[in-house]
Amino acid sequence: MRLDVFTLVPDAFAWIRERRPLAAVLGTELELRVFNYRDSTPLTAGQVDDDPYGGGPGMVLRVDVVAAALDAAYGGIPGHRVIALSPQGAQLDQDLVEELAAEDALTLLSARFEGFDQRILDHLCTDVVSIGPYVLSGGEIPALAVVDAIARRLPGALTAGSGEIESFSAAADAGLEYPHYTRPAEFRGWEVPEILLSGDHGRIEAWRREQVRAAS
Ligand SMILES: C[S@@+](CC[C@H](N)C(=O)[O-])C[C@H]1O[C@@H](n2cnc3c(N)ncnc32)[C@H](O)[C@@H]1O
Repeated sequence: MRLDVFTLVPDAFAWIRERRPLAAVLGTELELRVFNYRDSTPLTAGQVDDDPYGGGPGMVLRVDVVAAALDAAYGGIPGHRVIALSPQGAQLDQDLVEELAAEDALTLLSARFEGFDQRILDHLCTDVVSIGPYVLSGGEIPALAVVDAIARRLPGALTAGSGEIESFSAAADAGLEYPHYTRPAEFRGWEVPEILLSGDHGRIEAWRREQVRAAS
């Protein structure tokens, strides 16, 4: 899969390459490219945004700048999904992550300040996605969330078996995963459920199934 991120803060995507799950799939299952709108802007002095028509505070990411960035990368609007990250979009959930992880190529567009000129969303994108009903200062953290959530669904990203039963997965009936415990078995009087120490894998499995909770 190829994931392309367009941003004004390319540095934000450095550390994630060094860490799992990305580090495990980069160069094999995943190619991650990061583009800076300023590198292809048709405006002078690296300008990418402008005052809002109608007045008001803040700066708006220009449609010609985003179109130029897509032209430079793809020679036009690409044939694959182009996703703008915006608090006004459809909320990201595990079903959408699974859907996106099955794509061969994806483009993520992030903005800062007041956000995108509406024509970017209307004419250059296929999807608008939010990572939750709150406003962040830029699309980099949302893009990192999408990249990470997708990467862990790719083959080889996780140690064998660890991604099968997880919260929101089909194996957990789209609910919340059972609780986990590790050593020490007792700490300040807080004990690990006895069944997990029993060595009886059948009972442990049954207990874990009981503990899967419905997501609220
Ligand atoms: C300060 S926000 C703009 C908020 C916009 N003026 C509004 O009220 O809807 C700047 C940028 O951060 C990103 N962003 C902020 N919150 C987000 C969220 N919850 N999900 C996805 N992207 C978000 C988007 O790229 C957005 O254009």
